[in-house]
Amino acid sequence: MVKKNACVFISGYGSNLRSLIRNSRNHNFPINISLVICNNADAKGILHAKKNSIPYLIINTKKRNFETIVLKEIKKYRISLICLAGYMKIISKNFINNCGKKIINIHPSLLPKFKGLNTFQKVLKNNEKKTGCTVHFVNEKLDSGKLIIQKSFFINKNDKANILKIKTQKLEHKAFSEAIIKMYRYN
Ligand code: GRF
Repeated sequence: MVKKNACVFISGYGSNLRSLIRNSRNHNFPINISLVICNNADAKGILHAKKNSIPYLIINTKKRNFETIVLKEIKKYRISLICLAGYMKIISKNFINNCGKKIINIHPSLLPKFKGLNTFQKVLKNNEKKTGCTVHFVNEKLDSGKLIIQKSFFINKNDKANILKIKTQKLEHKAFSEAIIKMYRYN
C-alpha cells in the first residue's frame, strides 16, 4: 500500500496525535504522519512529534501571513490529508479554498449536537442520555461538514464533565483512525 502523507494540526495535549502516530506504524494504515503544525508554543503535544522525529512547525497565528507559511509547508511535505486534532483555531474559508486537500476534524460530541466549545457542560445541561465523538470533513461552517464516523456511549447519572471528557477521548482515539481507514477504503 502506498501511504498518503498527512499533517496533524494541534494546540494542546495531543492525545489524538499520539494515537494517530501509533496507528500509522501499522503498514496497513493508509497514512503517514509527515508533519505536525501547532499554534501554541507551550503545547504538550509537540513532544509526540519530537519523540517520533516527525517534522513540526510552531506557528504564530497572529502573524498576518501565517496561512501562507502553513500552505507552503503542506506543499513541501506533499500532504494529502489534514487532521485537526484539538486545533483551537477556526480554519478560514481562504485556507480551505487555497489548500485543496481533504481536511477532517474530531469533535467531542455527537454532531450536529453541541458545536463549538464547552461540549461536556452543554451535554449535561441538556440531560442527554448518550454522548460521544464525531469525525467529520471541515467546511466553512464550524463543526458542520459531512460526517465520517461517530462513536457513542450512555451517560451514567453520576458522570461529571471531567468523566465525560475521559470517556469521550477514549472513543476519539479509536474513531479518528477508523475514520481515516474508512475514507481510504476504496482508494
Ligand atoms: C479532543 O477532545 C477533540 O475532540 C477536541 O479537542 C480535544 C483534543 O485533545 N477538538 P488532544 O489534544 O488530542 O488530547
